Amino acid sequence: MCGIVGYIGLNDAKEILLKGLEKLEYRGYDSSGIAVRNEAGVTIFKEKGRIADLRAAVDENTMAHTGIGHTRWATHGVPSRENAHPHQSNSGRLTLVHNGVIENYAILKREYLKDVAFKSETDTEVIVQLIEKFVNEGMEVEEAFRHTLTLLEGSYAIALLDAENDETILVAKNKSPLLIGVGKDFNVVASDAMAMLQVTDQFLELMDKEMVIVTNEKVTIKNLSNEEVMRAPYTAELDASDIEKGTYPHYMLKEVDEQPAVIRKIIQAYQNEEGKLAIDYNITEAVSEADRIYIIACGTSYHAGLIGKQFIEKMTEIPVEVHVASEFTYNMPLLSKKPLFIFISQSGETADSRAVLVSIKALGHKALTITNVPGSTLSREADYTLLLHAGPEIAVASTKAYTAQVAVLSILANVTGQFRNMEYGFDLVKELGIVATAMEALCDSKEEMEDIAREYLSVTRNCFFIGRSLDYYVVLEGALKLKEISYIQAEGFAGGELKHGTIALIEEGTPVIALATQAGVNLSIRGNVKEVVARGANPCIISMKGLEEEDDRFVIPEVNELLTPLISVIPLQLIAYYAALHRECDVDKPRNLAKSVTVE
Ligand code: F6R
Repeated sequence: MCGIVGYIGLNDAKEILLKGLEKLEYRGYDSSGIAVRNEAGVTIFKEKGRIADLRAAVDENTMAHTGIGHTRWATHGVPSRENAHPHQSNSGRLTLVHNGVIENYAILKREYLKDVAFKSETDTEVIVQLIEKFVNEGMEVEEAFRHTLTLLEGSYAIALLDAENDETILVAKNKSPLLIGVGKDFNVVASDAMAMLQVTDQFLELMDKEMVIVTNEKVTIKNLSNEEVMRAPYTAELDASDIEKGTYPHYMLKEVDEQPAVIRKIIQAYQNEEGKLAIDYNITEAVSEADRIYIIACGTSYHAGLIGKQFIEKMTEIPVEVHVASEFTYNMPLLSKKPLFIFISQSGETADSRAVLVSIKALGHKALTITNVPGSTLSREADYTLLLHAGPEIAVASTKAYTAQVAVLSILANVTGQFRNMEYGFDLVKELGIVATAMEALCDSKEEMEDIAREYLSVTRNCFFIGRSLDYYVVLEGALKLKEISYIQAEGFAGGELKHGTIALIEEGTPVIALATQAGVNLSIRGNVKEVVARGANPCIISMKGLEEEDDRFVIPEVNELLTPLISVIPLQLIAYYAALHRECDVDKPRNLAKSVTVE
């Protein structure tokens, strides 16, 4: 969570910082701030709320060529102006922004800063006050910065301004993402390349426990033993148009519509010259040799993992367990003799998943990360990576990354199955092509979805989703989408499970959205719908062609039964979108959330 930026060069720093923060707002948006340095010293602007609120508060006449900025998702201390970054040392000389969590901040405060008066409730202020303490004791700022880093436990991406040195920004990274963007006569700092694509596409990756001295002409990377580290920049393969909304009112709608193209891109990316699906031999071998696969993920990615389990078990006959990362870390099950871990993460930065990766690597196990972000932490730290090729996903609610995860998992299962000489009798390339076409038809059904949202969800405070078999996993995702963006209390249930308690919540008019895309359980799910209707529910059945019945509210095109999650989720994404829109919610930036969850 939280995003940071920095600029040192010849242009108007505040504008570059604000534009950068606008691109990073997906990382947190409860407060934000910038600090710029010019001949008059360091000036800080900060505000509770969105970047637009900060922009309104920034004095347009402040001209400076150096600055740092921050957008916050509160961890320590409520969202407020006081707790917003940048934070300043008591003398006002040092100003700092930080993304991450300093786990030992209370100990450091007690041990080193007993007599210091703090202005905020944040763990971050401890860092800047500590640096100042060491400066007051006679260290140079760079040395004090390095010394402080050696004392910090936890995660950080930090940028520091010194009011007495207008030529340098000091930067450091541990576990939180951070890049240095390089240019002619300027250099920049950003949590994510997207923030600084406005000025450069050349970026330097940083490793954990590295610090950087950034001037407008030079970038010097050092380790914490003060040894210089040489590293060449890479070109960020991002198209600036990928991160613009274009004519869409919201990123979420754009990303829903991008799903057919993403599926086609995935088919292409994982096809060899003969048109056959192929992935790196080492990955296929590693998956194939595992005696059990452990899928680790959070939220929407976890829901994709539940579907991945079905694919892998059916196509490879390797048993699979799917675990929520935050539980797995502290409650590890008895592992098999030869496990392989698959981490599914859109961002590749999720701290809960990373904590599991660190612990299973320490046990000597192999890991594969399936992510949308090349070079992300989970990708770098795993043995293998498979990319989602979904393009940047900006809306906080995940849509195209979910379908991309499901598609890539189907390909992984398929290729591994062939490696193990399994027979399951369908051509996945052809079937995924049919899926992409069906997705297009569904994306064209927005009016119907808007009608459903209006009819069922305009006034309700809650909504239930039910499904059986693969549909059960999809309704979990449908319920998550609805609650996170429309704030309607929504729960997904296995159709057969409702009668074991939850049916008590059904009242006159309670909306129940049921998926019916699985032939084997079609009659049973319809039986479950009858049970809730008998108790007053307002049912909305979304079925698949071939299984439909007269009163079904919407029928999705027919695709291979195993691949239905790829398309049945689209109506649920769109229903959630329109429900949120009708309730005037901030669709792309729902309250209390952040896109990249980099705290445990
Ligand atoms: C919901 C959503 C989240 C993420 C979860 C994991 O729409 O996006 O539930 O799926 O925070 O994030 P990643 O996939 O980046 O690890």
